[in-house]
Amino acid sequence: MKFIIEKDYDKMSRSAADIFAEHIEQNPSCVLGLATGSTPEGLYACLVKDCSDGKISFSDVTTFNLDEYCDLPVENEQSYRYFMNFNLFDHVDIAKNRTNLPCGIKADDETCKNYEQAIEDEGGIDIQLLGIGHNGHIGFNEPSDSFSVITNLVDLKDSTIEANSRFFDDISDVPKRAITMGIGTIMKARKVVVVANGQGKAEIVKKAFFGPVVPEVPASVLQLHPDVTVVLDDEAASLIPKD
Ligand code: PGA
Repeated sequence: MKFIIEKDYDKMSRSAADIFAEHIEQNPSCVLGLATGSTPEGLYACLVKDCSDGKISFSDVTTFNLDEYCDLPVENEQSYRYFMNFNLFDHVDIAKNRTNLPCGIKADDETCKNYEQAIEDEGGIDIQLLGIGHNGHIGFNEPSDSFSVITNLVDLKDSTIEANSRFFDDISDVPKRAITMGIGTIMKARKVVVVANGQGKAEIVKKAFFGPVVPEVPASVLQLHPDVTVVLDDEAASLIPKD
């Protein structure tokens, strides 16, 4: 596991974006695994800039997002499809039909299987971006007594509903279910990049990457992945061992 620690959020974003930009430059038809949340917004802004500066092109890139809320229409501003269009897809030269998110409207076992198959059909994910939840979730894989294997439907934990309620008018508007790549799906990505910033993430960063590998802290499984880069700002890195 490699750690890159930057002074602040902007530098963290640029540094993580460079990993993706370099990958796209070297493999123009790569398959990216993408994430939502406030942490990657800066990274996406950097990639939009790189694309408009002509440094990278998304014209042959395929993407698969980690997760989507159930029962929110894609036009809803809180849907993850809306987020991705707003933060990245609408501003780069990507073919929209190569951008994939799980369908939260027809959220059933068949949808989960089809999503998993679609990833396989593209040859798997080359590089997967992840944020980390305060409870250690990755995608919407919540703390549990086992690691989920494939794309699956989940009931969101109260702590996640509360954390995400900041984006909704009322906490009762936050969907209670989501569809997410499984831990097994994420672990199959050839390379993983985790981003985290701020003091609020310091405790979980330490626990996930320096504590035991347990399904109660889903992100801890990444310690077993052969190619993970964790990009942090100083605050999120403040509790990790210094040597
Ligand atoms: P955040 O979410 O980037 O909004 O902190 C991360 C996550 O929950 O995966």
